[in-house]
Amino acid sequence: MSVPTETASALYTPTSFRHAGIAGLGMCVPAQVVTNDEIAKRVETTDEWIATRTGIRERRVTTPEEASSDLALVACRQALEDAKIAPEELDLVLCATATGDYVWPATACILQDALGAKKAGAFDLSAACSGFCYGLATAAGFIQSGMMRNILVVGVDTLTKHLNWEDRTTCILFGDGAGAAVLTPCSNEEGILSSVLRADGGGLEAVWLPAGGTRTPITPNVLESRTNCMKMQGKDVYRFAVEVVPSIIQEVLDRACLKPSDIDLLVMHQANIRILQSAAERFGISMDKVAVNVDRYGNTSAASVPLALRECADEKRLHRGDIVVTVGFGAGLTWGANVIRWNRDY
Ligand code: UT7
Repeated sequence: MSVPTETASALYTPTSFRHAGIAGLGMCVPAQVVTNDEIAKRVETTDEWIATRTGIRERRVTTPEEASSDLALVACRQALEDAKIAPEELDLVLCATATGDYVWPATACILQDALGAKKAGAFDLSAACSGFCYGLATAAGFIQSGMMRNILVVGVDTLTKHLNWEDRTTCILFGDGAGAAVLTPCSNEEGILSSVLRADGGGLEAVWLPAGGTRTPITPNVLESRTNCMKMQGKDVYRFAVEVVPSIIQEVLDRACLKPSDIDLLVMHQANIRILQSAAERFGISMDKVAVNVDRYGNTSAASVPLALRECADEKRLHRGDIVVTVGFGAGLTWGANVIRWNRDY
């Protein structure tokens, strides 16, 4: 079928390569605070053990009525307002989550509808705790190619719903939250300068949700054995993180022709303060250049990086021209990083 010339050129006019920058940020955490002492009433642990081994002091936990999209929607609205972009101007809603409202369809579609993003596509991206960094790279690719202009990337997880609250090796670690960013075209000197994405599916069982998918559907036996809850080999994940985080930071900086000393703000996935300290030490970066929210929110999976970005914006730690490095790592196994030259002042 021949396409009328006018339509074809409107659809396919080649646009010059342009970078994608973060024009707005938003966040949301549930109101309910659960302290280490409260967890210590349910399992054999102590505030001292949790705080020393992980840096976590408390986390936010959703009520049974609150789902991922409820948190994500608040974060998305704040990000759009911050970017001064109307929902109708969005080309894509990209939701990074491992804990969508339903098995299918995508939580991104729920957000698209609730926001009134009438001209946007919508899909979910499944890369667990690396999801937001994967999402930034994906959105940057769409914008750089000229295929899209305005993209909303939201990282949301409510992993507390998938925890066995009698398993002290996992239930102490996680919290719920959402963080969102609006990406728009910017000058080629600014915005997302480089991204690196990696995976090692051989590490599937290091941290995973064994049942509830098509391989192992939910049955009475599954519920009995609690395989519908998260399982984790904590030490293996720790070793993996300590190895891959510095190497991906070096690689993503190399791609942007920058050095560790150029970093103004390092925003890593918040799994354990010791992982953050180890990476900072490796590059001689002082902790005042490292974003930390693990103490207040625990491990919020795909939300941890955008939550930290929004808080850094509120604390006026993000300035135009700053080099910001974001790093995610987690289930899959997956890991990813982005170098951003910040293109607006907060
Ligand atoms: O987002 C990515 C997903 N997850 C992660 O990134 C997690 C990465 N891993 C970690 O952060 C750490 O491995 C943990 C915080 C999970 C565990 O810390 P660890 O220093 O590796 O402790 P461990 O597993 O080696 O356990 C040490 C001891 C053990 O007792 P024994 O065998 O030495 O007698 C555990 O049974 O601590 C015990 N233990 C606990 N004690 C009190 C394990 N969990 C607890 C607990 N409270 N909650």
